[in-house]
Amino acid sequence: MYSLSDEPTGRQSWIDERRDAAVATFAAKIPGIYQVDIELDPGIARWAAGESNCPSLFITGPLGVGKTHSAWQAIHRWVYSQFGANYRGTPVVESWRSTALFDALRPDTDGNSGRALVKRLQQVDLLYIDDLAAARPSSWTQERLFEIFDDRYINRRPVLITSDVLPKELLEVTGERVLSRLAEMCRGGVVHIEGADRRRGVAAA
Ligand SMILES: Nc1ncnc2c1ncn2[C@@H]1O[C@H](COP(=O)(O)OP(=O)(O)OP(=O)(O)O)[C@@H](O)[C@H]1O
Ligand SMILES: [Mg+2]
Repeated sequence: MYSLSDEPTGRQSWIDERRDAAVATFAAKIPGIYQVDIELDPGIARWAAGESNCPSLFITGPLGVGKTHSAWQAIHRWVYSQFGANYRGTPVVESWRSTALFDALRPDTDGNSGRALVKRLQQVDLLYIDDLAAARPSSWTQERLFEIFDDRYINRRPVLITSDVLPKELLEVTGERVLSRLAEMCRGGVVHIEGADRRRGVAAA
């Protein structure tokens, strides 16, 4: 027995094609070593499939366990699962290493572009900040970070953070007001990856 829904409609195949193109465009931006498919932690896989109750994701764990790799692969799947679902068309993702982000937010860079960056990072569909604990903050950068996080918090826009420490230990980097919002945004969305430093391989054991 066949029904009409067994045949992809012209519209559905057009959407599928656009989704595949969006996912391929994102995949091309993934840094080389992180392009390799890996098995994701179940909690991370759930988030990537759009099946987590928490729209944001916080990946923590010791050095070299695969936090950054997992984050890139998770976003790759997330772009697929979110295309046309919670976002019209392709969700816009910005990815930043925390050190580069804090540099870009400093006042000694061009004032106008700093403003534009804050605005952009308030509005993108997903903001990924890698290795948040590594950043060296100033009161200025914490203020800019607050503007970004407060806007994302009140508009329920998700973040993906990787860090080798837990959210509550990020106070010195983010300041109190960002930390409070981050705690709520990531409640139920903190995944701890366990294991040895994969860069050292078995020699580390
Ligand atoms: N599940 C996996 N299977 C195989 N290799 C992996 C896996 N996860 C990560 N790797 C590899 O392990 C190395 C370290 O991974 P990654 O850079 O993601 O670690 P990290 O936790 O972000 O480290 P750091 O805390 O130093 O930032 C990389 O070479 C990465 O490609
Ligand atoms: Mg990393």
